[in-house]
Amino acid sequence: MADTGAKGNMRVLVVGSGGREHALVQKLSESRLVDAIWCFPGNAGIAQVASIPNLAHAHADLLAEFAVAKGIDLTVVGPENHLADGIVDVFHSRGLTIFGPTQKAAQIESSKIFAKELMRRYDIPTANYGVFSDYESAEVYIKNMGAPIVIKADGLAAGKGVIVARNIETALKAAKTTLSGEQVGDAGRRIVVEEFLQGQEASILALCDGTTCIPLAPSQDHKAVGEGDQGPNTGGMGAYSPVPVVDQALEQEVCDTILIPTLRALEQEGICYTGVLYAGLMLTDTGPKVIEFNCRFGDPETQVVLPRLKTDLAALLLATSQGRLASFPSLEWDPRACVCVIAASGGYPGAYSSGFPISGLESVGKLRDVHVYHAGTASRNKEVVTAGGRVLGISALGDDISQARERAYVAMGKLAFQGMHYRTDIGWRALPH
Ligand code: AMP
Ligand code: GLY
Repeated sequence: MADTGAKGNMRVLVVGSGGREHALVQKLSESRLVDAIWCFPGNAGIAQVASIPNLAHAHADLLAEFAVAKGIDLTVVGPENHLADGIVDVFHSRGLTIFGPTQKAAQIESSKIFAKELMRRYDIPTANYGVFSDYESAEVYIKNMGAPIVIKADGLAAGKGVIVARNIETALKAAKTTLSGEQVGDAGRRIVVEEFLQGQEASILALCDGTTCIPLAPSQDHKAVGEGDQGPNTGGMGAYSPVPVVDQALEQEVCDTILIPTLRALEQEGICYTGVLYAGLMLTDTGPKVIEFNCRFGDPETQVVLPRLKTDLAALLLATSQGRLASFPSLEWDPRACVCVIAASGGYPGAYSSGFPISGLESVGKLRDVHVYHAGTASRNKEVVTAGGRVLGISALGDDISQARERAYVAMGKLAFQGMHYRTDIGWRALPH
């Protein structure tokens, strides 16, 4: 299907159930190309925009069968675990069009060792590191390098695989508990021990079709649970876009020194990378360096980037999946800023309870320039109840970060559920001091 061709008959399937997928589904529903959208597993908010198929589980074979049966033109995958498990390969083997990298390409996220070795081989700027599978060698390296130092599990660990150690004891303990499997199971049987980088962080998500890459607007997320970026890491408590410290020159530098070289490096290794290449960056005194790569849209970065995107998302994702980015028109952006604040369940990122009714959704739904993106929500007897750690996010647009932020917090003030907590300082680094 050409992006300017057949109007309004495209059928789309989105895989996932978080705020990111709600934002994707919402934006796709605004596309002039799209006629029908399904999402699985979805959540209570997604169910208002997309149909939720009645499937037993989210295995790739079952989803592919569904895509064939419904004549789906494009499947968009949100979470990394599906990509790491090879959903794209399964869809390709059936001749289905799907947005995302193959299993081999997804290693850029599913194995930190794969990513680091690729960067080392092709001179892509990143922290110095060592790879270890036994504690004794890690101990020698850590003692040699000194603290602060960063310990990372090789495999996927749902955001729990990285420990930034301020002192040697913490680093040694992290290495021990990760390698033993205690911290994140088998994902930690091999670790990366990495130089501590200083600077501001930024996320640049680029759409890649194997040879061409188009960066999306930069964003910054807030991983720590507490105000001032204190406390344990979460899946992300908020985000904002644009990022004042990432000007056009810096964005170009990231393209020239990181994104394009990575795409070329993968090509050299015989890997055609399609989908989102997400560069998590540290903006150091000596230039931007890669903290991590992800093989998918970020969450909650997507919830601040997509509200600003004016280009038709379905056309863009289809062109990416079909290797047509070189001839795709320049992306159009809303110049306004967007801030997303996440409301989480009491106890999160530790243990939490679910099933609490959420009040205020209707009144927030009426606010202009405010999107409510559901994450861990479910419907129960016509009520929306909490069903996860991160429950929902509010993304608000404004003339600048301050206004967007104010709107997001006004909206958040209207929502309530038992145990609800959120950070009140999202975007603080971008505010005028
Ligand atoms: P990751 O899951 O790799 O994104 O790491 C989680 C967080 O740990 C990052 O967002 C950073 O705040 C921090 N981090 C990871 N690697 C480093 C590093 N080499 N230096 C400093 N902080 C880091
Ligand atoms: N916001 C961080 C991530 O999506 O991994």
